[in-house]
Amino acid sequence: MLLLLLIFSNFLPFISTTSDYTNYSLIRFQVDLTSNTLEKLEKFDSEFDEKSNSWKVLLDIWAEPSKSHPFVDVLVAPQFMRQFKSMLTSMEIGSLTILEEDIQKHISLERKTMLETNQLENKNRRKRRELGSNWKNFNTHMYHPYSNMIDFMTVLADQKPDMVEKFKVATSSQGRSIYGVRIHPPRKSNPEKPSIIIDAGVHAREWIAPGVALYIIKRLVEGYGNDDKITKNLDKFDWYIFPQVNPDGYEYSRTEDRLWRKTRSKNETVNRYCHGADANRNWGYRWGEVGANRTPCSNIYMGSHPYSEPEILGLKDYFTWQITNPMIYFSLHSYGQLFLSPWGYTNQRTDNHFDQQSAAREAVNAIKNTTGVIYKSGTISEMMYPASGTSIDYMQHLGVPYIYGVELRPNELAGSGFNLPESFIKETGDEMIAALQAISEHAVRVKKL
Ligand SMILES: *[C@@H]1O[C@H](CO)[C@@H](O)[C@H](O)[C@H]1NC(C)=O
Ligand SMILES: *[C@@H]1O[C@H](CO)[C@@H](O)[C@H](O)[C@H]1NC(C)=O
Ligand SMILES: *[C@@H]1O[C@H](CO)[C@@H](O)[C@H](O)[C@H]1NC(C)=O
Ligand SMILES: [Zn+2]
Repeated sequence: MLLLLLIFSNFLPFISTTSDYTNYSLIRFQVDLTSNTLEKLEKFDSEFDEKSNSWKVLLDIWAEPSKSHPFVDVLVAPQFMRQFKSMLTSMEIGSLTILEEDIQKHISLERKTMLETNQLENKNRRKRRELGSNWKNFNTHMYHPYSNMIDFMTVLADQKPDMVEKFKVATSSQGRSIYGVRIHPPRKSNPEKPSIIIDAGVHAREWIAPGVALYIIKRLVEGYGNDDKITKNLDKFDWYIFPQVNPDGYEYSRTEDRLWRKTRSKNETVNRYCHGADANRNWGYRWGEVGANRTPCSNIYMGSHPYSEPEILGLKDYFTWQITNPMIYFSLHSYGQLFLSPWGYTNQRTDNHFDQQSAAREAVNAIKNTTGVIYKSGTISEMMYPASGTSIDYMQHLGVPYIYGVELRPNELAGSGFNLPESFIKETGDEMIAALQAISEHAVRVKKL
């Protein structure tokens, strides 16, 4: 009972972060896709700052080029700008566009909005306190601290035991428990029932992803028995949702460095100063091949060995051994409005390429129909640079038929990038539900489920 009374009440005022991105600008330039421009630039991504005794970001790739859009968007530190420009000149890249002059403005604006939402939420919560704590009171239209996400899952599983199970999949490097929920109709599912798997938060700074995952959890539970499409879907599929799989990185991005991407693991033999690995380069299938980085300070560092990150090891074991009939897998990221399919490590097509792509096109149409927003689809290596050690390739290797790394909103033109305002959670969540429903219907048809 005590738990229920305390629930959702630990809203701390937002702690100010130490990293500052004042005058860091977002720059766009065109590249030849066959050149190794990105690899060359990545070598300069950070430097050791003696004053603060820490590594500072000099350059960070925010959007990779693709065939249909051969532009790179990079965040460039003001102290690196001159060198950056002369490097581009030496690579015969002429024209640059400044998309944003000062990315800190977006970070500060986000912080201000969140403080306002928090104040309002605290006021509402005091009013609601008399009504007791209920999973329905969890506000999915805001970005939450990790502890609130756990509280929500706990209360939901307590209050809806007939259709929600909460389970632990891993303990993070810093000791945080990582959970998933299984959502199914209020009766026992047959063991061969197909499943939909969603993970989010792999990359710490992509806050819209956990926001959307939590929104989906709540919508499914509210919708069963009230919304025909959701009811029909849950009767057909069980859903496994892992709303925040990199809580160390997420909390670090909330309190220290808003643009943190990796986990927060430490390996003193590898590097004393740089923490974390890119959790989406750490999976064991084709680990460490193209598009992964061996430098521990890099933002796409693949880790010291496959599954060096306990978060990813736990997730892999769960996906592999605990889910009997995985049918659809979504890994939620941001940003760019893309559906990315395997393979990431090679340009070759998967055996089920055409079916996977036609399901993706149905998802794209369903989104257009729901919110009017345009997503694009293709394979990782087709739409972006190749990447290996991703969950997408692992799941393809496991034989899951419908696999998508989803880059959520905004599209690449909006300068807000990772700082997408909370007010977008609902629409972005609604379009993901529409996409998942479309792919489910496709799967039912093609796989005769
Ligand atoms: C950022 O740029 C503006 C305009 O050039 C300048 O006035 C300001 O001092 C710079 N701020 C920092 C912290 O470098
Ligand atoms: C740290 O890195 C070393 C060298 O790559 C590796 O052998 C070791 O397993 C790593 N330790 C952990 C805890 O991952
Ligand atoms: C789009 O919406 C209309 C009207 O709700 C519906 O009839 C149609 O099937 C939808 N198309 C897709 C691709 O979801
Ligand atoms: Zn990501």
